[in-house]
Amino acid sequence: MSIRLSPSILSADFMALGREVAAAERGGADLIHVDVMDGHFVPNLTIGVPVVRALKRVAQVPLDVHLMIDNPDRFLEAFIDAGAAMLSVHVEVLPHLHRTIQAIKGLGAQAGVVLNPSTPVSALEEVAADVDFVLVMSVNPGFGGQRFIPRSVAKIRAVRALLDQAGNPAPIEVDGGVDLETIGSVVEAGAEILVAGHAVFGGGDAESAARALKLAGARAAASRVRS
Ligand code: DX5
Ligand code: ZN
Repeated sequence: MSIRLSPSILSADFMALGREVAAAERGGADLIHVDVMDGHFVPNLTIGVPVVRALKRVAQVPLDVHLMIDNPDRFLEAFIDAGAAMLSVHVEVLPHLHRTIQAIKGLGAQAGVVLNPSTPVSALEEVAADVDFVLVMSVNPGFGGQRFIPRSVAKIRAVRALLDQAGNPAPIEVDGGVDLETIGSVVEAGAEILVAGHAVFGGGDAESAARALKLAGARAAASRVRS
């Protein structure tokens, strides 16, 4: 399994986004994770389409855009036009999830489905063959720097089993509280795309922090293969 690191710019210095992204990339970032919040679905407001477009101009790696908004269907095209290569939407707000997934794919991006901590894995059952990736939230979305919810490890395993059963090799992404302490357990459970905000940008040296996480993730993946 190949491990990809997706640093979340939510904890970066917004006055220096270009430099922060470049530092994370030097440290081995494979993607850049962009958290879009609307103040309705989650109790916080962040950024929108213009910032994604600006990031697209500076990022060397693909943009992984996570929509935490009430009506994502309205904005799919705008975010993909602005440069989202991966676009994830929450199952909790989508009564027509199958249609939304097809719409994202039709617009040329990879379609991800996100589960909040309290959302059961069964919510994915009918679309397990259709998704390009699944994002398991390991904190309640809204803020960076929260504590990892340990139960998420079992959930990652259950999502992996569901995808395997559907014959879908789509990777699992995990988001929230991923750091040097928790990274081993999520990789061991089957996560392949690791979002990290505070752990990358919270300490002032995003390059070394990204490099350390990448190394820890790769080590955990190697021992998973051996066991
Ligand atoms: C939380 C966001 C996350 C967040 C992760 O609502 O979806 O992407 O930035 O931040 P950390 O890694 O600090 O928990
Ligand atoms: Zn996120």
